[in-house]
Amino acid sequence: MVGFGRRSSLTGREPVQLATRLDISAGRVDHPQNAGWMIYVDVSAQHSARADSGLHTHHGFSSRTPRPGVSTWNGWAAFGLARRMHFNEVRYPLVVSPRGEAFHVLRVEETVSAQSAQQISLTTGKAPFIEEARADGRLYIEQPYEMYTEDNHEAWRVLYDRMYERWDRYANSSFLGGLERLRIDATAIPKLEDVNRFLAPLTGFKAKPVSGYVPAFVFFDCLGRREFPTTITIRDAARLDYLPEPDIFHDVAGHVPMHTDPEFANVLARFGACASTAADMIRSDRGSSEERIRRMTGILKAMARFFWFTIEFGLVKERDGLKALGSGLLSSYGELEHSVRSDSVQRYPVQFEWIINQSFEVFHYQPLLFWVDSFEHLFDLVIQLEQWMVQGKLDNAAPGEPALEDRDVASFIEYEASTAA
Ligand SMILES: [Fe+2]
Repeated sequence: MVGFGRRSSLTGREPVQLATRLDISAGRVDHPQNAGWMIYVDVSAQHSARADSGLHTHHGFSSRTPRPGVSTWNGWAAFGLARRMHFNEVRYPLVVSPRGEAFHVLRVEETVSAQSAQQISLTTGKAPFIEEARADGRLYIEQPYEMYTEDNHEAWRVLYDRMYERWDRYANSSFLGGLERLRIDATAIPKLEDVNRFLAPLTGFKAKPVSGYVPAFVFFDCLGRREFPTTITIRDAARLDYLPEPDIFHDVAGHVPMHTDPEFANVLARFGACASTAADMIRSDRGSSEERIRRMTGILKAMARFFWFTIEFGLVKERDGLKALGSGLLSSYGELEHSVRSDSVQRYPVQFEWIINQSFEVFHYQPLLFWVDSFEHLFDLVIQLEQWMVQGKLDNAAPGEPALEDRDVASFIEYEASTAA
């Protein structure tokens, strides 16, 4: 299908030549792992082009100033490493960026270099695909499955393998049922579309790939629509226990199995709906903007603490004792056992007033945990959260952790601005 060998190149100023040399008719070409086309473009001449004409890169960027590590050719920065290209119209040797800018293609080079292999990894903190999505302001992305390296899959295998025995002993029964129902692959990072094929018919929930940080309102609002913002990167295989931020193991192996349980799914969706209630309240608040920010900060602190002590680090009482309910516990080899067995953990029946005012820290095992009796119990607590919110009783949540970012508080207030417009 592709008429040139590895490391060959061409000049794309001649449309016919581009078509001839690439020998690709309309259609899609997927590159094998660790390979791609490096595309060089004339960034000085931007063209308008129909978004569906030309050559679309799956993984592209453009820059007048080459970024560190970016290939250059005759002074031109590479547009990007394209691992999947759509040749809809070969007469136009244009490349269209994710932002819709079109550039003349100067050169296309097939590469199988070590650099390209490194560039396509989806390791947490080392994934250019994610960095570029963030730089472009793209929150919702696809899961470019072919970018996972063998190391990435190996990290998944090791993480998953060692959890079996601990899940069996310490995970709640709905989680264990969910693992079976989802038929999650233990031997390779799951494709989210496969996970969703089993998940959506059960509860309507879907894992939705995101590029990273999701503003608080957007995150909770997604839950209300039964969409779960899901990280697609995976932690470095060399540092499996160090997890500074969520990865696909935490999200898919820790959260998603819980979403197969209809009662738990209702809890999560109801919690998500509270975000809209909060945003609507702030919209109708006629106080000063400082006062609205103060109120919203209290509400969001209470919501974040509630989420932390239940969905992320909660326990649930089952017939044979306390089990891990929270996904932070369920995705941690060390803390899962520690949470249920260790003498150094304080465990109490959940008390609503306590958890919404209790600060927490994220960088060590949790010394204080709470259990719920059932998902029905948890649902009632979410209803109470919403009632207290409406009654203004969350406005003065105790100060302390978690520290909220301005953009998280603003995400609720901006929602108000966009819906009021
Ligand atoms: Fe989480």
